[in-house]
Parts: sequence; C-alpha cells; structure tokens
Amino acid sequence: MGRTDGSPLFPDNAARRHWDDVLTRELAASRDRVFAGAVTPRIDLDAFRSDLAGFDFRGPMAPATLLSWTIGQLEHGLVHINHPRYFGLFNPGPAAPAEWADRIAASFNPQLATWTTSPAAVEIESHVIRAVARRAGLAAGAGGHFTTGGAEANYTALICALTRAEPGFAADGARAFAGRPVLYASKDCHLAWIKIAHQSGIGRRAVRLVGTDAAGRMDAAELAAMIADDRRAGCRPVMVVATAGTTNAGMIDPLPACAGVARDADAWFHVDAAWGGGLIASGRLFGCLSGIERADSITIDAHKWFATTMGCGMFLTPHRDVLTAAFEVTTGYMPSATRDVDPYVTTMQWSRRFLGLRLFLALAAAGWDGYAAHVEHAVELTAVLRRRLEALGWRIVNDSPLAVLCIEPPPGSADVRAIAARVLASGRAWVSVAAFQGRDVIRACVTHGEAAEDDIVILVDALAAAA
Ligand SMILES: Cc1ncc(COP(=O)(O)O)c(C=O)c1O
Repeated sequence: MGRTDGSPLFPDNAARRHWDDVLTRELAASRDRVFAGAVTPRIDLDAFRSDLAGFDFRGPMAPATLLSWTIGQLEHGLVHINHPRYFGLFNPGPAAPAEWADRIAASFNPQLATWTTSPAAVEIESHVIRAVARRAGLAAGAGGHFTTGGAEANYTALICALTRAEPGFAADGARAFAGRPVLYASKDCHLAWIKIAHQSGIGRRAVRLVGTDAAGRMDAAELAAMIADDRRAGCRPVMVVATAGTTNAGMIDPLPACAGVARDADAWFHVDAAWGGGLIASGRLFGCLSGIERADSITIDAHKWFATTMGCGMFLTPHRDVLTAAFEVTTGYMPSATRDVDPYVTTMQWSRRFLGLRLFLALAAAGWDGYAAHVEHAVELTAVLRRRLEALGWRIVNDSPLAVLCIEPPPGSADVRAIAARVLASGRAWVSVAAFQGRDVIRACVTHGEAAEDDIVILVDALAAAA
C-alpha cells in the first residue's frame, strides 16, 4: 500500500481521479473556446509576468488554482496550432488518439532505454517503425526508431553516414577522415543541417548547399558537379540529402536522380521527408515520393502530417547494423545491452519516453486508409484555396503536389509582410512569410485535420481584407 496522506505530489487515487476529471473537463471547455476564438489570441504580458513573479514556490498551492491558471494563460499566450485556421509551419492540430497516448505514457511513465524494463513498449514502437518503413518502400527487415523530431532523425542520419564512410570515425571522430567529410543538400533544405554539422564535429562549412531548378528542386547535375569538384579538392563526400517537401514551399527534390548521384559517389542517401513523408499513407499521392525506397535512411515526423502531439519523429533505415555500429556502448549498470534491440544502444537517446505510442494508437484507430483520407483532404483543401485566390488575382508561385502554397498578392497590394501581419492581427487565421526563389511570399499550409472549406473562405477573406 502506498502513502495516502494527501501529499500534493502524490495524492491518493481518489484525489488523483478527481483532479484528472477536472482537468479533462477544463481542457474540453478550453478547446471549445479555442475553436470559437482567435487563432492569435492576445495576452496581457504585464499581468502574466506579474502573476508569474508571484510563484515564489515557498509553499503548496491548490490544484484547482494551478490547473485553471495554467490553462487560462496558455489559452491566451499561444498561437493556437490546434485551431483549424492555423495555416502554419507543419505543426498539426493533434489527433485525439495521440493525445490519449501522451496521457497513457505519462501515467505508466515507462523507461524505454532497455527492452528488459519495457518489453511491451519497445515492441510496440518497433512494430510501428517496421510498418512505416515498409509503407515507405524500404526492404523487409528495415527498422529504425522514434526520435524527438526531424532534427534528431537527420542528425542520426549524419552519424550513420560518417560511421559507414570511415571505420575510424567511431574512435577518432572527423580527424579519422583523410579528406574533409562533406554532405550535400539543396539550398532550400531545412537548415538544422547546419547545426547538425556543427554538433557532429565536421563543421558548418561541411554542408554544401546545392542550387535548385526554377521550381525549387535540387539540381541533380549541379549536385554531381559539386561532388566531383570536392573530390578533386580532396574532400570526402559522405552523404546526399534529398528533401521531400521543402519547408518553405513543399518541393520534392528529384529523388531517383539524387539516389543515382549518391550511389555513384558511394555516399549515404538520406531523404528528409519530415513533413512530405505523410504521403506514404495515400495510394493516390505516394507516387510523388517515387525513389524514396532507394534511401539509406529516411526522416518522417509523426508530429507533422501524421498529426501526433509534438516531439515525435522517426528515423528509418534498412541498415540496422550501422545504427548498432554508431550507437553501441557497454555499461555494467544497465539491465541489458542487446544489439539491435535495446534502444539506448541503437539510438542517440538514453532515457527514452514512450513516443511511439502516439502513432501506434492513431494509426491503429484510423488505419492507413484513415490517414490517406487525412492527407488527401489537406491536399484538396489546398487546391480550393489556390482556386479561390487565383480567382481574385493572387498568384501561387510554387508548384508543389503537397498542401502548402507560396502566395503573391495582386499587383498594387501591400507588401507581403504587412499583409501577413494584418491577418495575424485580425486573429482570423495564421499564415507565415517565407522566401521562395529569392522573394518574399505568404506561406499557407493546411495542417489541421479538422480544417474545412469554410475555414478556407475565412482565410481568403482575411487575406483580401489585408491586401
Ligand atoms: C524538411 C524538414 N526537415 C527537418 C525539420 C526539423 O524537424 P523538427 O522541427 O521536428 O526537428 C523540419 C521542420 O520543419 C522540416 O521542415
């Protein structure tokens, strides 16, 4: 029997259930208010900071006060990515099963460092990873793991590429290479690659940014030429990164051509499909990712188009042996160290949250068909947005098959930054400003699974009023 003295940290089961119920009801009411209110609510920062300063942690506070204060502040102090008119930066309104998964994971709080301590959780994650890897077209036997997001998955890809390219990298790091190790990605790639190169010790200048064609896709001929130049200069090309769904414009690099160049250069071929990877769900749209099956590794974020809660990415690879070579370590104090099984010896993390339950529950609840409908709905709504804007004389300057538009207002309108700022100030929708082919554009991405045509109408109206 545990203590039941009403401790604030460990209330007894009856009190816990009471506060869990209160929280459930308050969150549901808040969600209703969020949907009915502004996407960009305003917070009185002076009042908020003064409240915050009042938390001196000298004594206990009542759960009722804490829960309602926190929900109230977040309701006013965040851009609501869980609002259907958040046309934002790939962050989704979370699917209900993913939210439930977070709650279940929090309650059991399993430690996924080892299989030994959490066999059910580790096997659920592996099962989902294998299913996603197969769906992406990787060979049977492909695996990988959940990550905190796309940046960690991409970092894992670089460590694998370096480990595979030079056996001495494990012991001696970048200095083991006879020539400077370099990697290639398009100039429109996600620039976490720069930080990743820095962190890995190969240095920021090791990231070669390849030019794009007029549509914003990596120019494979320029990629091949840069690799040849680097080789002549004594560098060691270790990895080619193709982006499948660029962050600004949703462009998909020519995957088969990039795969061919990588193979000819004996370089690791990584596909960063952090957002665009959602297309694997749709039989109709999957063809856009043709060539992804040739990848040595793939990044797909479940917390983007798969609509899980934040902090849920995936790293997929047919080369599970390289993951072991990159992350294996032996200690006496861990309960087990089984190659290819225990997550702490095959991934960057050590202590590990049960991230994958979110995609497991969501995928099991909806099935691949449910996810196909989700992805196709977003693409269809994007087409509606395009048609409505073009009818008013606006121009769409990107040509992505995905659910993101780069938009230019009609001639004579206000500057795009001013337009976006006015839309945000109206609270009716959220859009961003992005650079596409050297010019500023308004970027609108259909990210919310509950967005409907009415939301598109309101967005178009808000844009027109702001122009
Ligand atoms: C193409 C691409 N790769 C990687 C990332 C980084 O992913 P995360 O923010 O999940 O670390 C992003 C984020 O938007 C992205 O668009």
